[in-house]
Amino acid sequence: MLSVEQAQDAIIVALDMGADDAVRLCQKLSGRARWVKVGMTLYYACGPQIVDRMHQLGFNVFLDLKLHVIPFQVEGAAEAASLAGADILSIHALGSSAMVAGARRGVQKAAQKRDSRTKLVAISVLTSMDQDALHEIGIEVPVKDEVAKLASLAVSAGSDGIVCSPQEAAQMRQLLGPDALIVTPGVRPAGSAIGDQKRVATPAAAIAAGASKLVIGRPITKAEDPVAAFDAIVNELTGSAR
Ligand code: C5P
Repeated sequence: MLSVEQAQDAIIVALDMGADDAVRLCQKLSGRARWVKVGMTLYYACGPQIVDRMHQLGFNVFLDLKLHVIPFQVEGAAEAASLAGADILSIHALGSSAMVAGARRGVQKAAQKRDSRTKLVAISVLTSMDQDALHEIGIEVPVKDEVAKLASLAVSAGSDGIVCSPQEAAQMRQLLGPDALIVTPGVRPAGSAIGDQKRVATPAAAIAAGASKLVIGRPITKAEDPVAAFDAIVNELTGSAR
């Protein structure tokens, strides 16, 4: 079981909404939640200053930009995202070990100009893709083998960890070892709506499977009382759920 501080630190609230709503929600969650996820929609709408705004409100930021381009460009983008304040930044393992190494160089360069290094997490196979989708792009190995191959490649090339479904977390923890950062979306507290997610697990099950951090959006952001919803997840993780 986690302490209250550990549980609060394990939850990343996905801000899939406009800037004004995001700031209003963050003001409510301030003092409880410690992490927010800024995805492409919010980032492209608001620019890098949204990261700063979140820091001012007291949150660490997972900047989910899923970088995937030539290594030279990824190096520059990772440096810029890090200097914008990203605490965690996502990249695609599919860009090859050279691209992941480029991202690592980028965040390392930025680290010389800020007080800590941005952590990298790599996407392996998007959870929206199945065996048919892999076949369509010419990949014939089973999805789970492709996920494992890309996860190992990414961590060997300098990524601090990966993003995966909670149902892959145990296998990934075994493969990547105790130090890898394993971030899992698709988390649903018991009794909450699944929405468009398919392969879900409860917060406690995801942590028990080896996840380091849980990305949770709508169960908190769409709740009638987001603060109560956040606290209920913390209670579940600390074992004080009733
Ligand atoms: O609202 P919900 O809890 O489903 O939000 C999960 C967040 O995690 C969303 O921002 C979604 O885009 C993201 N995500 C996901 N599945 C992945 C990767 C990212 O749901 N495989």
